[in-house]
Amino acid sequence: MKRLAGSILGVVVTAGLVAPPATAAPAVKQPVAEGYGGAVATVDLDASKVALGVLKQGGNAMDAVVAGAAALGVTEPYSAGLAGGGFIVYYDAKRNKVINIDGRETAPAAMTATTFEGIPFADAVTSGLSVGVPGSVAQWDLALRRYGTLSLREALKPAADLADRGFVVDQTFYDQTAANAARFADFTSTAALYLPGGQPPAVGSTFRNPDLARTYRELGRRGPSWLYGGPLGQDLVATVKNPPVTPGSTRNVRPGLMELADLRAYRALTPEPTHVRYQGLDVYGMAPPSSGGSTVGEALNILEATGKVTLSAYLDASRLAFADRNAYVGDPAYVNVPLRELLSQQYAKERACLIGETALPNPAAPGSPDGRYGPCPSAAPGTKAEPLPEGPETTHLVATDQWGNVAAYNITIEQTGGSGIVVPGRGILLNNQLTDFTFGPAPGDPNLPAPGKRPRSSMAPTIVLKHGKPFLAVGSPGGATIITTVLQILLNRLDFGMSLPEAVEAPRASQRNIPATQAEQAFIAQYGDELTAKGHVFAVTSEIGAATALEFLGRGRVQAVAEPVRRGGGSALVVRAG
Ligand code: GLY
Repeated sequence: MKRLAGSILGVVVTAGLVAPPATAAPAVKQPVAEGYGGAVATVDLDASKVALGVLKQGGNAMDAVVAGAAALGVTEPYSAGLAGGGFIVYYDAKRNKVINIDGRETAPAAMTATTFEGIPFADAVTSGLSVGVPGSVAQWDLALRRYGTLSLREALKPAADLADRGFVVDQTFYDQTAANAARFADFTSTAALYLPGGQPPAVGSTFRNPDLARTYRELGRRGPSWLYGGPLGQDLVATVKNPPVTPGSTRNVRPGLMELADLRAYRALTPEPTHVRYQGLDVYGMAPPSSGGSTVGEALNILEATGKVTLSAYLDASRLAFADRNAYVGDPAYVNVPLRELLSQQYAKERACLIGETALPNPAAPGSPDGRYGPCPSAAPGTKAEPLPEGPETTHLVATDQWGNVAAYNITIEQTGGSGIVVPGRGILLNNQLTDFTFGPAPGDPNLPAPGKRPRSSMAPTIVLKHGKPFLAVGSPGGATIITTVLQILLNRLDFGMSLPEAVEAPRASQRNIPATQAEQAFIAQYGDELTAKGHVFAVTSEIGAATALEFLGRGRVQAVAEPVRRGGGSALVVRAG
């Protein structure tokens, strides 16, 4: 421990390291838990137990989400891992301030605006070319040093133990492995780890990853420079440049451009969070290069400006906010993102006046967030574009502690299974985050690749304050549907009279300036007739998102919420139930 956060730490610290997590947590996943002293929610019971164990031992919310994310790297390795990236939104109780930590991957220095041109998206997905310079380790290190009480070594220990001990394979892990089996088989290292005997591990079997356990332990001992320029980094670069393709595979695996110098140059960042006022609440989100905070925030402003929040207005506001997101949001170190205007009330009024009784036509054109807002502009036609495939990728976890700190953390390796390439001997899957760039040619697009640039994200960890104190924290996986999932949960809770568990469980629909709104069958069954009569068009999709959330109920009582069903259901835990 760097700093002892409370006297109880004294009894659990052994040989300078945190003891294994307490096991008093329930043996089965519960989607809702209420109580005191801290709370967590993740998609996975083992990861929630790790995060809860950290809280019980006196760690704070930042310690808990870093340890929990590392544990998700074991049990949700197709969504999270140290070779990926992510975004943290954190409420620092002592300073009464919300902050952002940006651990987004970067493009290697050799990447240009034309690197992806002409390459089919499906080919880029499984390639070295799509592997971004990983940000998670630098993010964990910065998060712990500035806001945590654990060292990196201490935070990684429970995950290392979990990787050694193993976890019981559930249907979700099996299904995700099976869905990836064809490409996993094309890499010797990936097949050896995730297709033992040539098959996905059976449901109910115990899955261990001793290479990952060693990687976590050595990373803990040697520190981030072991990756950012050291031997682990050398292994990553060698794998990216020369993926271990299975002899006889016919897959055209393009090598990547990453060099050790790219790893040395990587830095986690701390931009100012996005902020809007909605119904007198303060809604804080993730700044660009994520479009999460700006798009959720703009849509909320538009909805407030309409004066009447309905599901039809939700879909139209999402459409308008996505038109602006696509036109204006990219890495602010490379493009001028008009963030202040996108999140201004005046701009929202101009956008809101386009929303009427009937659905907006597809596609909506972006607006002009130029600071000059007048009478209602007529709706200009937008440019038609087909939606990119949005899978269930990424994961989100939340934690709060006995001091009132709150963390909302999205971590990802991009697609479920990332690039499909395991670094030999290290037990980690490489990300394919650079597929979040626009492939082009697309002159003027803010999200074209460039050397060192961060691809635009949709991750939207969100913290809502009421009278200056935490009220809600929420986030989800799901590519660009993350934005609509977070928005819909907020509206369910704040406008449609639902409790937080109801808001998370409710059927979802996602309109991202695409021809047909993607919707779960239950949403169409419940609201389809009414919305179709207004001109909305739906395409059924099996499942949208897998949220985790917190609500602060007053007098120190917290409600932690995970999915009851989606992605196999999540796990919410509290330090003291009550
Ligand atoms: N790769 C998912 C996202 O960043 O939105």
